[in-house]
Amino acid sequence: MINRFNGLIAVLCCAGLVSACLSDPDSADGGVMPEPEVVSEPPASVSGMARVSSPDGALEFMLDASSSAPLWSLTYDGQTVIAPSALGFRFADEAALERGLSVTATREASHDSEWEQPWGERRFVRDHHNEIVISLRETSNDQRGFDLRVRAFDTGIGFRYEVTDGGNRDQTRRITEELTRFVVSPKANAWWIPGTGWNRYEYPYQKTHIDAFSDAHTPLTLQLPDDGPYIAIHEAALIDYSGMVLKQRRPGVLQADLAPAPDGTKVTRTGAFTTPWRTVQVARDAVGLINSDIILNLNAPNTMGDVSWVKPGKYVGIWWEMHINRSTWGSGERHGATNENTRRYLDFAAEHGFDGVLVEGWNTGWDGDWFFNGAEFSFTQAHPNFDIEALSAYANEKGVALIGHHETSGHLTNYETQMADAFALYGRLGYRHVKTGYVADVADLVRVDAAGIERREWHYGQYAVNHHIRVLEEAAKHRIAINAHEPVKDTGLRRTYPNWLTREGARGQEFNAWGNPPNPAEHVAMLAFTRMLSGPMDYTPGIFDLMPNGPDDENRVRGTIAAQLAHYVVLYSPLHMAADLPENYEARPDLFQFIKDVPTDWDRSIALDGAVGEYVVFARKDRASPDWYLGAVTDDRPRDLVVPLTFLEEGRNYTATLYRDGENASWRAAPYEYAIESRRVSADDRITLNLASGGGVAIRFVVEKE
Ligand code: NOJ
Ligand code: CA
Repeated sequence: MINRFNGLIAVLCCAGLVSACLSDPDSADGGVMPEPEVVSEPPASVSGMARVSSPDGALEFMLDASSSAPLWSLTYDGQTVIAPSALGFRFADEAALERGLSVTATREASHDSEWEQPWGERRFVRDHHNEIVISLRETSNDQRGFDLRVRAFDTGIGFRYEVTDGGNRDQTRRITEELTRFVVSPKANAWWIPGTGWNRYEYPYQKTHIDAFSDAHTPLTLQLPDDGPYIAIHEAALIDYSGMVLKQRRPGVLQADLAPAPDGTKVTRTGAFTTPWRTVQVARDAVGLINSDIILNLNAPNTMGDVSWVKPGKYVGIWWEMHINRSTWGSGERHGATNENTRRYLDFAAEHGFDGVLVEGWNTGWDGDWFFNGAEFSFTQAHPNFDIEALSAYANEKGVALIGHHETSGHLTNYETQMADAFALYGRLGYRHVKTGYVADVADLVRVDAAGIERREWHYGQYAVNHHIRVLEEAAKHRIAINAHEPVKDTGLRRTYPNWLTREGARGQEFNAWGNPPNPAEHVAMLAFTRMLSGPMDYTPGIFDLMPNGPDDENRVRGTIAAQLAHYVVLYSPLHMAADLPENYEARPDLFQFIKDVPTDWDRSIALDGAVGEYVVFARKDRASPDWYLGAVTDDRPRDLVVPLTFLEEGRNYTATLYRDGENASWRAAPYEYAIESRRVSADDRITLNLASGGGVAIRFVVEKE
């Protein structure tokens, strides 16, 4: 069935009204349009139009360059997902690439292959798509233009600009605006975080009608009206370009808004260049957005050669104790990063099979107001309380690695000038992972230019985007993998740079210590359908003392203790922390067992069921054994879910150990009520999950010996 929104566009195309609309750039692709009376399809093929469909035929991308400016659109089973939307660029020093472009050539291809991830949420990834490359050149000057490379998968599409050099390889272009639009129904529902504000993606998600935000970060998750399909707009392979926020020009008219450099230019490139992919995932059910690999598939294969040294794993660390104010990063009586405390954590990690121990506050520069004194940090000078040589030797003896910490407080230059030495030091001492950090306001990263002048860069501007890649390359020289906090958002670069293991880039557990307010009960069920569409997150789960500041403090975990276990399965990260203090795990060895057992490297992952921001159920199969795991969480509403166990291997019996909410559990009144029980199950069974308010369940399925 063609819905009204779709039909409307068809009518306008047929009536030749689109070009009339185009005289006003702001209404070219989404002006307020009257309700359609007549519904008809655009002709199958007219001059200036190019199309590509997904392998299953459900998604169709169309480019219409028959009018004065090219417009792209997307349908799903004949229903409009993206109405005709603008493309192009404005530049500082030359005319815009926006109008007077016609299709001069098209090339089509189909692709179906499988590739293997060195680590990941699934081992094998199928890349099945149809492609069209549409050459658009100016009618007045065929040296100017771009190719649009479009890939249509069954779960979404991606396109990118491949901008020609106009015959001048040395030409430097300064993009002042990328004109890409995504015009969606003004009646869509949206789950979003603001694209502006000082913070770097660390906001609670909101569900509203689309017109409630002026700008939003991607991935932006939407549902079309009348129980329509779910869509997620994002980008893939963000390299040497600025990150994209979506600015809402009018209800439903979303335009790419790139983070600027200090001089206001959005992106500077020399010669021919390609942009990141602009992506739209589409799914009938919300979990379909999660069960999609298009972001990874649109990234280039691994460029780092042998990456067998990149190890997923689990870690503990001197971290939460600072966030709950039991110890400090800086010097003083309560300094956390002491030899004694580090040894205590190393012993604990070795005893319980953890791979790493993170130590924050190990170096000099934390004294004083470290938020604002990024230039003070040394990345090679250990604090006198932290004997880095002796502690590394102790860690190596115990078969545990120390995890390094590079908090920059956003002073990029201070970090960049020390980076080579810093990674060399860690490499020599046997560190395998480094957590970086960029605590600073979003437009306040410090870069000192060649003339010694301080410039302020955005967290997701072109300079910072490239900074993160330089860090990966420097770390790789010493076989070190990176976990970036306050990073640029994930766009699937872990495929190309497999030592980018994980990152933060959302509101993590730390907000439950001091967030005012802490993360809402629905937070993880939100993350699963929004932030997590971009890639792994270092959420730092596993808090067992749910009220670390006492029962009267607003800052507490708004979830049950069983939900803390479920997060290890629900939130994918190849590097997961057991974030609480050792003594809190020692006090609950029965629950702690699940954290010890759960793997962080998967053979398969399936989002089984869920509703955005309400609940979600995942099943994942361990990469190193035949065991399966299940994790489910709910918002503050209790719910019973019946889950068929069809994911288990047919014909085998499993012992399922459930870590679930107790009968009277609820995050507010009884968060510690839980039950652990075992039963024998097979793929023919269904299991009922009883989730409390703010609750969750974690299950380990162990194959029975024959
Ligand atoms: C913010 C990070 O997200 C957190 O994990 C870290 O402890 C602090 N910065 C200090 O670096
Ligand atoms: Ca943070």
